Amino acid sequence: MKTKVLQALRAQNGYISGQALSEALGVSRTAVWKTIRRLQEEGYEIEAVPNRGYRIVGCPDLLAKEEVSSRMETRWIARQVEYFSQIDSTNQYAKRAAEEGAAEGLLVIADEQTKGRGRSGHTWTTPPGTAIAMTLLLRPRIAPEKISMVTLITGLAVAKACRSLYGVDAGIKWPNDVVIGGRKLCGTLTEMTTDMHSVSYIVIGTGINVNIRSFPEDLK
Ligand code: BTN
Repeated sequence: MKTKVLQALRAQNGYISGQALSEALGVSRTAVWKTIRRLQEEGYEIEAVPNRGYRIVGCPDLLAKEEVSSRMETRWIARQVEYFSQIDSTNQYAKRAAEEGAAEGLLVIADEQTKGRGRSGHTWTTPPGTAIAMTLLLRPRIAPEKISMVTLITGLAVAKACRSLYGVDAGIKWPNDVVIGGRKLCGTLTEMTTDMHSVSYIVIGTGINVNIRSFPEDLK
């Protein structure tokens, strides 16, 4: 419901009345009002003006489930989104979900990771409010030796998004770090589970440093 209300508010160039929202979503005006209240409590700035309706003017700096889902047009990737304000590691969670039969395309996002993992056994720091930490679960029908291509494509996608959305000169540092001005913006850790000779599932974990201001001494 929150996702649908956000989509309807964003689709409107200006105010949309409570009546129009309730008709479009097939719910009562009270349900619309309660959902708007909940979104406001979560940090969305939604103006409510008598005789005009509702207008969205700001959103919280968080990649919560509804924020991501309401902006996605997708057939299967991230059809299911799970968001955690704190988790051990999104890769670990996605692997547990995969073992329990989660569908391909599951996207796990966390604001803070307490046991974030990097490549070569390194830790990956994700303090709250500083980074994008996300993991995508795939069940690809490809040979295990081709999995490294998926990691590369993920890095390329992040670099492309940075360039096209924000005009920053992001590039790839082999094999899959995304760098801006020689500094690491993003890393990807892909982990694979095989079943005899084929890939059972992979989790692609991507960490993007967004708001981070200071790094632990060993990372500086
Ligand atoms: C690297 O060492 O460059 C790879 C870092 C990968 C970090 C991401 S953050 C989301 C996901 N969860 C983890 O525990 N690790 C990956």
